[in-house]
Amino acid sequence: MCGIIGYIGKEKKPLQFIVKGLESLEYRGYDSAGAACIDPKGNLFIKKVKGRVKLLEDLIKKTPQKTNLGIAHTRWATHGEPTVINAHPHVNADNDIAVVHNGIIENHFTLKNELIKKGYSFVSQTDTEVIPHLIEEELKHSLTYQEAFNNAVKKLEGSFSLVVIFKNDPKKRIYAAKMDSPLVVGILKEGFYIASDISSMVQHTKNVIYLKEKQIFISDGISVNIYDLDGNEVHVKPEKITWNVEKAEKKGFETFMLKEIHEQPEILKKIARMRLKNKKIIFEELSLSKAYLKRVKRIYLTACGTAYHACFLGKYYIEEFTGIPAEVILSSEFRYTRPKLGKDKLVICISQSGETADTLASIREAKKYGSKVLSLCNVVGSTIARESEGVIYTHAGIEIGVASTKAYTSQVMTIFLLALYLSEIRGEDKDLNKNLIFKEIRAVGDKISQVFDNVKEIKKGAKKYFSYQGAFYLGRHFNYPTALEGALKNKEISYMHAEGYAAGEMKHGPIALIDNNFLVFCIATKGQVYEKMISNIQEVHARKGLIISLATQGDEKVKRISDTVIYMPYIVEELSPIINIIAFQLMAYYIAQNKGCDIDKPRNLAKSVTVE
Ligand code: G6P
Repeated sequence: MCGIIGYIGKEKKPLQFIVKGLESLEYRGYDSAGAACIDPKGNLFIKKVKGRVKLLEDLIKKTPQKTNLGIAHTRWATHGEPTVINAHPHVNADNDIAVVHNGIIENHFTLKNELIKKGYSFVSQTDTEVIPHLIEEELKHSLTYQEAFNNAVKKLEGSFSLVVIFKNDPKKRIYAAKMDSPLVVGILKEGFYIASDISSMVQHTKNVIYLKEKQIFISDGISVNIYDLDGNEVHVKPEKITWNVEKAEKKGFETFMLKEIHEQPEILKKIARMRLKNKKIIFEELSLSKAYLKRVKRIYLTACGTAYHACFLGKYYIEEFTGIPAEVILSSEFRYTRPKLGKDKLVICISQSGETADTLASIREAKKYGSKVLSLCNVVGSTIARESEGVIYTHAGIEIGVASTKAYTSQVMTIFLLALYLSEIRGEDKDLNKNLIFKEIRAVGDKISQVFDNVKEIKKGAKKYFSYQGAFYLGRHFNYPTALEGALKNKEISYMHAEGYAAGEMKHGPIALIDNNFLVFCIATKGQVYEKMISNIQEVHARKGLIISLATQGDEKVKRISDTVIYMPYIVEELSPIINIIAFQLMAYYIAQNKGCDIDKPRNLAKSVTVE
């Protein structure tokens, strides 16, 4: 996820103008930034920095720019580390086409190879760099800049948006395309603004045009033209917005956490699109060889906090789909448990930030004793990603809310896909119904949206139960980690004392706490352990505990023994943790809201813990 801006108009210092706006897009990523314009002599002027937008602002302060147009970018690395070379804008070899881009160009490998064969050379590790070269190539066969831009966009696959300027365009126009990633046009007094979202423009205008999928925007600064991909003009009406700056950054949600919860359908769909190709699972960034992965005899999974719960699911998935024994170890305990490390033992570590000190210490320990490390990280180029022999990115985009939501579901989906991948390359997938599993993976995004449709029930439950002192979260098998994560979400943001248990453990002690003042969240969606969960719910029911159950749509049995039922769409049980946790994220959220907590910044917590 990155932030992009383009501007065309009569501002005296357009570059300074848009870079200021870029600051409000930093929530989309801030590992590097850059800007470009055509200078008064007609040359392309570009500045880039590694780090925050503030550094870029300082850099362009002294450069007077009498020009009518400019583009700018704040980056959240997906392909290639956060460096100046990988920062946007990216240009072609002649330095006359500049591009800023948000999203992923999924066919960039193929395009890059074709362009290399035609003599183009590449300097960055990004997927973006194919775009200026591709446009240059299209210009050779096109009559106009517009035609070349259109043809290039049509060849790009994935969900993305981009803004482009040309040094030699006689019409001196700015070009943009929206293909599944957000792009909004701001209508100013004397000019136009185009950006990833309205947060960067609300202080300048309230008149906007939301571009729709597969639309091209072209402007000369006096008027705006919008086209479909075939070059037909589309007439759109500007809309009036009522948001203020703060609300705009959060896309209209009241907190970053709620925004991030709602981003999950899109992220899970993106992961499915990226990783599933022609009935195969693709991890193109994975540098550990298949030969090595075939030899692995044991896997240790390690992480902290929410990522630790994703490890638990990783263990279940790996043992379900492959013959490799897997063990989960908390990173803070890794050194003390003395795992039997060595060449044929793989350590998988999961980390959103890629900077967690305990997780990093485990990696170093694993490497010291000869194991290879494969990390699943969200932040590209983070320390953990750099220090691991293999890395797979989870592509959740920047996560700002301290309580992890979208990072978790993207970790779970990625470790699920990794387990399937291991079974595939080791020839252990013969009995798997791949068609069904792939269908279900692709359906996850939409099923999460169906949970949002049920938010009324969740809100009602939160209102009823927020003042209770304590809660258990009970689940079995694949949903035991969901119980742990559900309880963690609740205690993190609402400060309610909540504990996750494997439901079968209840009678070995915790059941002593149950009375009519105790909340018990039970996961009883359909699957192998359904009947056993029903028995556990009965045990709580008999002791008058207040039962809030997650059940599969249409289940009447659970309803009879629960105080509140939240119905979930059906999905194969292996993937049900991704759907079920959404209900618990929302429940924790609304409990915290009812208690008046500061949800994005819970007390005593930090987003990234870099001390052991
Ligand atoms: C902190 C955060 C948690 C996170 C944990 C691990 O405690 O508050 O939300 O799960 O660190 O972070 P990581 O970045 O390694 O996933």
